[in-house]
Amino acid sequence: MNAPKIPATLIPGDGIGPEIMEAALAALDAVDAPFDWDTQPAGMGALAMHGDPLPETTLASIRRTRLALKGPLETPVGGGFRSINVRLREEFKLYANIRPARTLIPGGRYDNIDLIVCRENLEGLYMGYEHYIPIDGDPHAVAMSTGVNTRQGARHIIEYAFEHAVALGRRKVTVVHKANIMKALTGIFLETAQEMHAERYKDKIEFEQVIVDACCMKLVMNPWQFDVLVTTNLFGDILSDLTAGLVGGLGMAPGSNIGADAAIFEAVHGSAPDIAGKGIANPTALVLAAALMLDHVNMKEKGDRIRRAVSETLNMDNVRTGDLGGNASTRDYTTSLVARIRNA
Ligand code: NAI
Repeated sequence: MNAPKIPATLIPGDGIGPEIMEAALAALDAVDAPFDWDTQPAGMGALAMHGDPLPETTLASIRRTRLALKGPLETPVGGGFRSINVRLREEFKLYANIRPARTLIPGGRYDNIDLIVCRENLEGLYMGYEHYIPIDGDPHAVAMSTGVNTRQGARHIIEYAFEHAVALGRRKVTVVHKANIMKALTGIFLETAQEMHAERYKDKIEFEQVIVDACCMKLVMNPWQFDVLVTTNLFGDILSDLTAGLVGGLGMAPGSNIGADAAIFEAVHGSAPDIAGKGIANPTALVLAAALMLDHVNMKEKGDRIRRAVSETLNMDNVRTGDLGGNASTRDYTTSLVARIRNA
């Protein structure tokens, strides 16, 4: 008997989004993932067609399905509209951004990496409470930004990180902060993590704290000393690109945005306008995000089949896109991936 269909929203996104989404959908099809897709626009494409980068119909779809697979969405730098990714996170209270970084191609600069960055996704300096103060005819004479972290927001993500780490049988949680300088803004995060560990997790998992600048250095010198990292929004944004770099670059890093009202799965990378339309993008990150989406709906076995096929495509078939030093096209990769899944 066929499994019941699971309603889910599909947002192909901007730039390389539609190209890599083809690969993710082909992989999901090959494992008979039972998603009933509602395809919706967002991003620059939606702005051009519907006059809104995040149309109400797209929001209504996610409100209904509470589950989405999303391609990258472009955000203008400096001026222009507010990031749609940030708006989506706020709208659906997606407080946990979970970004695993695992070595998929052995023998690289760093081997056997297996890290998870848990990033607070709604608060901090990312809230965009910003303004300029004009002085003497210079409209941008002074720039100001206000970061806000709350006890409750810190509790949500830190609890998620501890629970996730314990459930996965991980060995250690590291809280990353800058409480020596931003004593209130990131001090509250550190303090909350220390309290929660002492109260609820001290018998379950090891815990440590590290300052963000030292953390960057340590991640480059000896990333194996870490396991699960939990941190505030901006630091998580930066650290997760760093950890993606340890495993072959942005093309390899998936992410999930988990919240009270919905879960949205995506690649860590952006719309890569420099290679969009050329058919050469690496779809691995979005394919792995699709596998995380299967884990989320309790279909881990299907997720594992996709992860195995990704590894076989990269290592046994040696089918690799340009960012990994190969010359395969996105379509070559997809063909190999689907064959690997079907012939498993
Ligand atoms: P980017 O991640 O799009 O690209 C950075 C570099 O990595 C580029 O050289 C690009 O070609 C390469 N790259 C990224 N993904 C790749 C892939 N799958 N295969 C091969 N190479 C890949 O970052 P950038 O250029 O800073 O941002 C472009 C746009 O994407 C911006 O508008 C930004 O706001 C948006 N963005 C959206 C995100 C999202 O939707 N979650 C996340 C990050 C950025």
